[in-house]
Amino acid sequence: MRLHPMWENYPALQKDLQDVLITIEKNIQIRDKNVEKNIKNLIHAGGKLLRPAYALLSAQIGPDYDHDRAISVAAALEVLHMATLIHDDVVDESPIRRGEPTLHTLYGNNYAVYTGDYLFCVCFKILSKYADSMNDIEFNSKNIEKILIGELNQMRTRYQTSVTVREYLTRISGKTAQLFALSCYSGAKSSQASHALVAKSWNLGHYLGMAFQIIDDVLDYTSTYTSLGKPVLNDVKQGVYSLPLIYAMQGHHAEFAPLLTKKAALGQQDLIRLTDLVTHYQGVEQSFALASKYTKKALKTIKQLPSGPHKDLLYEVTSQILTRSI
Ligand code: IPE
Ligand code: IPE
Ligand code: MG
Ligand code: MG
Repeated sequence: MRLHPMWENYPALQKDLQDVLITIEKNIQIRDKNVEKNIKNLIHAGGKLLRPAYALLSAQIGPDYDHDRAISVAAALEVLHMATLIHDDVVDESPIRRGEPTLHTLYGNNYAVYTGDYLFCVCFKILSKYADSMNDIEFNSKNIEKILIGELNQMRTRYQTSVTVREYLTRISGKTAQLFALSCYSGAKSSQASHALVAKSWNLGHYLGMAFQIIDDVLDYTSTYTSLGKPVLNDVKQGVYSLPLIYAMQGHHAEFAPLLTKKAALGQQDLIRLTDLVTHYQGVEQSFALASKYTKKALKTIKQLPSGPHKDLLYEVTSQILTRSI
């Protein structure tokens, strides 16, 4: 089983992440073998497995590390992530994910939506085996609610050129940081870490998730389709105005207006012009600066955790978030 190259230098974590994928596979059994095959392809299409990695590392924060429990929690989180990606790609009308054609492109939206729904259920199925009490499940369903509210919030503000930095941050806090926070939180909680440490883990995931989504949005303007395995500049055509554009538009609305009024009809030349303007008005630079602030907060939080190899790893992996190009 080949994993994303970012884990190459971490053999122990690599082994655990492989166990996570095995656990996910075991829990996906569908009579319709075609659906099953498609989900399994997505599992093996080279996702970075960041959420399970953070859950696994956080599961060593408390005194009661239990390998099987940690693997299950990590697997449930990756499945939840996969479900949101499938739905996100339907909503974003995105043709490619992890370098492969998206489910809705191959089989239509109905098929993709049900597959995503099925994965939400698989997440709970895996979780219920290890949830110590119904409280954990309730906690997780509340979180999913917040992720979806983040997505709904994004739908509502589509094509609004007046969207503010604050609104953007609220949106990404829901749609992305929530799941990272949940990953670190669930890991720490599964190891019976103290209340204070569980809270710190939550904050770590939140800061990290904020930095991660900002960088994802920066990469939309600075990267290429081939290196990302998903299309670039899709969001802006869909009316999802992200941080680089929001920053660049501040005080320069008039220059962006003729382009943005074209909405989904933005052509290749328009996108080049838009990218140039975003860079010219320091949209990329300012976004990167904010992502660094969040990363610093995440690193500062990690420093407050008890010592151990997992802490060093958390620190190392988190330091790489800013410089990622994948
Ligand atoms: C994509 O997440 C969705 C965002 C929150 C930006 P990842 O970049 O972690 O996706 P995979 O799992 O590696 O494909
Ligand atoms: C991802 O946001 C948010 C999710 C919760 C799925 P994006 O729309 O920016 O993610 P990508 O760029 O499609 O991976
Ligand atoms: Mg998307
Ligand atoms: Mg994106």
